[in-house]
Amino acid sequence: MTSYERLFVDNKKWANRMVVDDPEFFSRLLNIQKPEFLWIGCSDSRVPANEITGTQPGEIFVHRNIANMVVHTDLNLLSVLQYAVEVLEVKHIIVCGHYDCGGVKAAMSNHNLGIINKWLRNIKDVHRYHRQEVDAIADEGVRINRMVELNVQEQVMNLAKTSIIQKSWKQKNQPHIHGWVYDLHDGIVKSVFEMAAGTHIDPLYEFDNL
Ligand code: CO
Repeated sequence: MTSYERLFVDNKKWANRMVVDDPEFFSRLLNIQKPEFLWIGCSDSRVPANEITGTQPGEIFVHRNIANMVVHTDLNLLSVLQYAVEVLEVKHIIVCGHYDCGGVKAAMSNHNLGIINKWLRNIKDVHRYHRQEVDAIADEGVRINRMVELNVQEQVMNLAKTSIIQKSWKQKNQPHIHGWVYDLHDGIVKSVFEMAAGTHIDPLYEFDNL
């Protein structure tokens, strides 16, 4: 059996197991999608949203990209965000980074990686905003992991800079935005930053006509 064929076999096993455990499982999810959470995570295969949070299909709306970025010109992210906030009315948005993130590591190097340079530029900007603190850390691993935390913090703030979030905060007093970091060594997630609905943001980014 080739590697991809195994996926079909395991899919059938999984579907059967789900129905054995809970006969209504699929029929219940058929007509409703009302997740409470939007997850913005890294594409890294070791950080799957449902598995690490012990959640089931139907519970988390997911967007993933390299280094869990919130880039304000990214039509994909913005479409997911608008749908999650305005239609699904998620109560919480979680930006989840992870230590030893390859995207953050690459952004802190000077290697030319082709098209991905453009994506990593956004992480280099985070480095520049926090240059003093980050460059003062002697150990490379510690320096990268601090950048992972600061990157999560900046992406949470990037969400708050969007009109989508500002409008929802004003009209619905939600969502609460969380910045988490996952540790590949022990599978534990910790909170490093958060912005509750209505949190003060830099007035430069505030819209006054929402
Ligand atoms: Co990563």
